[in-house]
Amino acid sequence: MKPLLPRLIAHRCGGALAPENTLAGLRVAAGYGYRGVEFDVMLSADGTPVLIHDETLERTTNGHGRVADTRDTELARLDAGSWHGAQFAGEPVPSFVEAGELCLALGLWANVEIKPGRGQESETGRKVARAARDIWQGLPPPLLSSFSIDALTAVREAAPELPRGLLCVAPPTDWQALCRQLECVTFHCSRRYFSSRLLDEARAAGFPLLLYTVNQPEDAGHLLDSGVTALFADRLDLLAPDSF
Ligand code: G3P
Ligand code: MG
Repeated sequence: MKPLLPRLIAHRCGGALAPENTLAGLRVAAGYGYRGVEFDVMLSADGTPVLIHDETLERTTNGHGRVADTRDTELARLDAGSWHGAQFAGEPVPSFVEAGELCLALGLWANVEIKPGRGQESETGRKVARAARDIWQGLPPPLLSSFSIDALTAVREAAPELPRGLLCVAPPTDWQALCRQLECVTFHCSRRYFSSRLLDEARAAGFPLLLYTVNQPEDAGHLLDSGVTALFADRLDLLAPDSF
């Protein structure tokens, strides 16, 4: 099943305008008129899927150490907002359940990027897939993407009905074969590696092409007009969804 994709997707919840991977970010995205968001999901020491980008806590929270070594009770005490600005002080590290439910409440479509800690690729894929199935329960589901082939394989096994996207920095020469093998419905890569040849290949193979991250309105306009399906954006203030 091919998902209906918004043309602009807020990167890490609220892009550059809110602390990444937070509930505040989801509210900011909705406030800017975004209909779609992307966020990163990893497992805590208790095996709970939570929203965070790095394998360690230091950059985006006041905690220390690896996410995979941190219990839920400890994660719940962390401040994931102050690093971005005092107005976000006390913003928690959300669980995937909390974020998914807020997406549903705000009417936001989601691209859930599975970001496994090292050695936890399959377990993370499996747990995120099962949680997504529980949260969305028959409603139009999120798109589950990952850089990890093992995570995507686990998603396919645990919840084959959930749409999957293959995520790369630079497209490998065999990206189409990988998409087919994993039964992915979309292909995502860095804007830096976009080329008209890649777009032609994606079109011919029937894979919607999604690029991260694009923040210049002119660039966004050209890419979408040329046939790129969707763009991940940090500057929600510069890229108004109504204009594209
Ligand atoms: O899913 C697109 C993008 O989020 C991938 O890169 O590092 O921002 O998660 P990163
Ligand atoms: Mg991401």
